[in-house]
Amino acid sequence: MASEARKPKTLLMIPGPTNVSPRVMRALLRPLINHRGPAFHKLYQEIEAGLQYLFQTKDPVIPLTCSGTGGMEFAISNVVRPGDKVLVPYYGFFCERVCRAVEAYGGKPIRLEFSLGDAPRAHQVEEALEKEAPVRAVIIVSNETSTGVRVPELKDMAKVTREHGSFFIADAISNLGGDSIPVDAWGIDLCVTVTQKCIGAPPGLALVSISERVLEALKKEPPRTLYFSALEYLRYMKERWETPYTPSLPIFFALHEALKAVMEEGLEARFRRHRECASTFYRGLEKMGIRAFPKVEDFRSNTVIAAMKPEGIDIGRLRSLMEERYGVIIASGLGQLRESIFRIGSMGIVSRAIVTRTLEALKGSLSSLGYGG
Ligand SMILES: Cc1ncc(COP(=O)(O)O)c(C=O)c1O
Repeated sequence: MASEARKPKTLLMIPGPTNVSPRVMRALLRPLINHRGPAFHKLYQEIEAGLQYLFQTKDPVIPLTCSGTGGMEFAISNVVRPGDKVLVPYYGFFCERVCRAVEAYGGKPIRLEFSLGDAPRAHQVEEALEKEAPVRAVIIVSNETSTGVRVPELKDMAKVTREHGSFFIADAISNLGGDSIPVDAWGIDLCVTVTQKCIGAPPGLALVSISERVLEALKKEPPRTLYFSALEYLRYMKERWETPYTPSLPIFFALHEALKAVMEEGLEARFRRHRECASTFYRGLEKMGIRAFPKVEDFRSNTVIAAMKPEGIDIGRLRSLMEERYGVIIASGLGQLRESIFRIGSMGIVSRAIVTRTLEALKGSLSSLGYGG
């Protein structure tokens, strides 16, 4: 018991779920309320105001009781119809998941392929849109969690997509709330994120903004889904500040508290904190002689740090040592990168102290494994 008490609190440094502040964790314990009563109506309105602030939009942002994949299915099922061509810049594991979801709704994904560690550029999307016209939608993963790559030209991509009359959908699951993604200013039709990454709450909800343009199209042709019908969520929201189906109340409470923290901090300060923590990570790795996985500096994510494993180091052993000795949990690579890179989540409540402790744990563990740096 005594040694348990001395053990430092575990740091969850995987790319989500991530560390959650005690105030947000405490919110989970609030007594449940009637999800069809006035207390919920007030809660939902306040959450909506916080989400619109975070997404930088005047359009509705729908909280869905499901994980991020459900949020992407919501976006895709409301836009993609059988036979539609959908352009997917393809540069990692989560891009493949987008393609599978498009296929599940009868769409035809057009994969615009890039090598792992690379990011698509706006002019490449534009060329593909011209070649493949008509394209119903472009779906972009704005931050590839599997490679630690961020798309630096999201704004320009949204612009060229709209100019070609297609919908622009962003899987911003691992960077909205850490990077600035001003949905209205950039013209993103559907932007998807989750509670468990940069927002700093537990998993359980996907959050999706929806543009007027999508709503107009839906009125002409309703979606072929019930649980994910945007029309249902919007009707319930507008008429009574409720969700059509039972919401996960504890996660709504936690999200409410996390959004309060976001507003107290302010967006600019939040984005700066994420940028600064990421650059401290990259500098720290460089000092240890470890290379970031994305070669182009501009592509390096501010929220998911992916790094090449040093020669001769086994990632499984490194991760176990970091966890057992230092209480710091990091992630391996995903898919074909499982054995060659490691990944660190730098999101939510990440701070200078958290970055320092993670880098120290990495350095100490590497040194125990015989790596000098
Ligand atoms: C970019 C991206 N898209 C989609 C997902 C899938 O989200 P979930 O596991 O919450 O369904 C993740 C999860 O890490 C992700 O990082």
